[in-house]
Amino acid sequence: MASITTDIANYESTGDPQHQMKALTWQGKNSIKLVETARPKIVDEQDVIVKITGTTICGSDLHLLHGAIPELQKGDILGHEFCGVVDTVGPATAKLKPGDRVVASFQIGCGKCFYCQRRLSSMCERTNSSQSASSLYGRRTAGMFGYSHFTGGFAGGQAEFVRVPYGDVNLLPLPDDVPDEKGLFLSDVLPTAWNAVVDTGVQQGDTVAIWGAGPIGQMVAEFSFYHGASRVIIIDGGNGQWRLKYVPSIVKDVETIDYTRLPKGESVSSTLKKMCDGRGPDVAIECAAGEYSKGWAHYFQTLLGMETDTPELVNEMITSVRGFGRCGVTGVYAGFCNHFNIGSLMQTGIRLIGNGQAPVHLYWEQLLKLIQEDKIHPLHMVSHRFRLEDMEKTYDLFNKREYGIQKIFVETRFSAPPAHGSPNLTEL
Ligand SMILES: NC(=O)c1ccc[n+]([C@@H]2O[C@H](COP(=O)([O-])OP(=O)(O)OC[C@H]3O[C@@H](n4cnc5c(N)ncnc54)[C@H](O)[C@@H]3O)[C@@H](O)[C@H]2O)c1
Ligand SMILES: [Zn+2]
Ligand SMILES: [Zn+2]
Repeated sequence: MASITTDIANYESTGDPQHQMKALTWQGKNSIKLVETARPKIVDEQDVIVKITGTTICGSDLHLLHGAIPELQKGDILGHEFCGVVDTVGPATAKLKPGDRVVASFQIGCGKCFYCQRRLSSMCERTNSSQSASSLYGRRTAGMFGYSHFTGGFAGGQAEFVRVPYGDVNLLPLPDDVPDEKGLFLSDVLPTAWNAVVDTGVQQGDTVAIWGAGPIGQMVAEFSFYHGASRVIIIDGGNGQWRLKYVPSIVKDVETIDYTRLPKGESVSSTLKKMCDGRGPDVAIECAAGEYSKGWAHYFQTLLGMETDTPELVNEMITSVRGFGRCGVTGVYAGFCNHFNIGSLMQTGIRLIGNGQAPVHLYWEQLLKLIQEDKIHPLHMVSHRFRLEDMEKTYDLFNKREYGIQKIFVETRFSAPPAHGSPNLTEL
């Protein structure tokens, strides 16, 4: 049982119909719509209502768009990364007050359970009551904003207002010297990329290979160097090809492999071996996703429902790293796959690490400080600024990995003008 009200992924029954807002809703596979809907109200006494001043789209939202994640319902409000200003607070709120600038974590922690005490907030035991998640995984993750009824059915933050359960726990105040365009990314990308690096165990002098040059892969590259990696090799291709130029133009010394342009007879694994003393990298980190099959065999198996995810990328990691190397999986996988190379894993001592949904609360205060000290740079990945009103078109561009769109900042009518060093508004 959850300790808060779950499964209100839109505010039609629980919101305030007298006050309307704009929100981006899921309408079915590959279909989304910006609607006028009721604004959220306080439901539980520790709720906080946030007026949103910044949101974005994540690679994870594409999995929802594509229907790769179960249990979305027509009309659910999307979005798990957002920052804003506290609008109203529930009667049991102790720390926050109206007017405070805040960023939300993508997961909803209670602050008190076994996991929350250890700051492993993405595994909170009291904010998600989905039975199907428990039976599929043996345990379930915390509730998450805008991420289907599988993760509690909470309305998301690609909207003008949002209800944040346990507001004191799940909202981090933003200091004046951190603008929304930087602070927003404490919701997800920065803690996720940081977790991928420290949880997989990048050590001084390691060579790190990264699958996927999207915003997560880019920050994993930056943070690998930050943790002492001597070499970073990033793999992408297809419509993500341009990112193999984009990322090294910002993160100096990153090497690249285009998996769609390998010489005949070569594979990602054989190329990595050649680049790394015939032995392979020390560490591999998956920042793409299990829905992106490469060959026909797994394309059809997922299409026919024989598996939910392809094992191809994980197998590539396992056969690429050196013996006793480490492989971390941060890209999203929903369920089961066929032809997993367990033999290679066992015989050659590969450490396969599920990085989990990143426990944002474990890292976000430390990362905020590093932003203030100018030691980590979220603006490095922010390529565009769009308006919430243009969200349908923006999803389409992000989904197609349209040239040059890496990570976006989405403003609402409540946002301040672009902060120094952040992109100007692109009107669509
Ligand atoms: N674990 C977490 O807490 C967490 C949090 C946020 C995002 N994620 C996941 O991380 C992944 C990356 O997120 P993002 O926002 O950077 O997504 P993105 O979709 O922008 O980037 C993914 C990149 O992977 C590339 N790719 C696809 N197939 C590939 C292959 N076979 N080999 C190499 N590269 C391939 C794509 O071209 C693309 O550039 C997504 O799966 C997202 O859901 C996980
Ligand atoms: Zn995300
Ligand atoms: Zn908890």
